[in-house]
Amino acid sequence: MRSRLAEKIDRDNGRLIGVIDSDLSESPVSWYGIVGNSDVMREMFSMIDQVADTEATVLLLGESGTGKELIAQAIHQRSSRASKPFVAVNCAALPESVIESELFGHEKGAYTGAFEQRKGRFEQANKGTLFLDEIGELSTALQIKLLRFLQDHRFERVGGNENIEADVRVIAATNRNLQQAVDEGSFRADLYYRLNVFPINVPPLRERGADILLLADHFVSQFNQENSKKIQRISTPALDLLMIYHWPGNVRELENCILRAAILSTDGVIHAYHLPPSLQSAASTGTEPKTGLDAEIFRVEKELIIEALKLENGNVSAAARRLVITERRLRYAIQRHRIDPRRFKTKL
Ligand SMILES: Nc1ncnc2c1ncn2[C@@H]1O[C@H](COP(=O)(O)OP(=O)(O)OP(=O)(O)O)[C@@H](O)[C@H]1O
Ligand SMILES: [Mg+2]
Repeated sequence: MRSRLAEKIDRDNGRLIGVIDSDLSESPVSWYGIVGNSDVMREMFSMIDQVADTEATVLLLGESGTGKELIAQAIHQRSSRASKPFVAVNCAALPESVIESELFGHEKGAYTGAFEQRKGRFEQANKGTLFLDEIGELSTALQIKLLRFLQDHRFERVGGNENIEADVRVIAATNRNLQQAVDEGSFRADLYYRLNVFPINVPPLRERGADILLLADHFVSQFNQENSKKIQRISTPALDLLMIYHWPGNVRELENCILRAAILSTDGVIHAYHLPPSLQSAASTGTEPKTGLDAEIFRVEKELIIEALKLENGNVSAAARRLVITERRLRYAIQRHRIDPRRFKTKL
């Protein structure tokens, strides 16, 4: 598989789009719409698989843009609730007064403007799954109400006293450190323990190695499907920039970056200059000589190191042997160039 893929990546022409589709039958790189083949993602898939068809509350922990909502959907799809509703609520998007009635509904006349009784998201999600995104932003009052629901599956609508029961599986997500929020007193410890029955850490994109390339391909294919303009490939220098960058905005940032580049491209190729300045500056470092022979040597050295790491699957000692230098010298150079060798680890 690895050699097949290597064949497809023409040294000068970059990566041909469509690798994901053609190789799907041999080694799945997309699971319930989640693209990924790195060790960390495979581990996560197997955890999801184990917990999906249970009633357990799942807590997804991960930086913004890592795909938490997509994962929540996968858990739902993989459970016996799949044919029932999947309802998502972002707890940070609405003010507290609105979110309470959004979640739990309200009775007619509960407040000014409540002309009719309205069912909340818990009732809408009955027999299905409720995804509570940004759970760390929930107010203390609502934390109590949620805790009560998790304990006995009961709640009251705003302005009502009827005890309503709903059969709902809850998946919660946050990009905050909830343990810290508990320590600081902004999040209830009892709710935290209740939610934390089955925590799943969603790894940041920078720890997913070659998944960056799989995802880039995926987003190009998606663009090609949705637009009459077709992108055939991503150039090698552009691929290098994608691999080197640290992706603070994770998959969402990569998705936007590919979309923007695809729109800018005029020859069916995504070139390095189509990528945003943040990616260009990540490739250059502070200690880098700016002009002259030193700058050229610096640039070539970096390119050769990246090439060797790619060929050796991120293995530093093997790359050092390939470059005929000591491992110690290579490690020093890797540090100077701020290259993360783990990014070249590929499972393909
Ligand atoms: N592994 C993946 N494969 C394919 N698409 C992905 C993957 N991960 C994320 N995406 C896409 O990236 C975007 C961001 O993902 P999502 O909204 O699930 O992130 P999130 O973790 O919920 O972010 P936030 O914390 O900001 O709410 C979405 O368009 C999603 O479809
Ligand atoms: Mg989200």
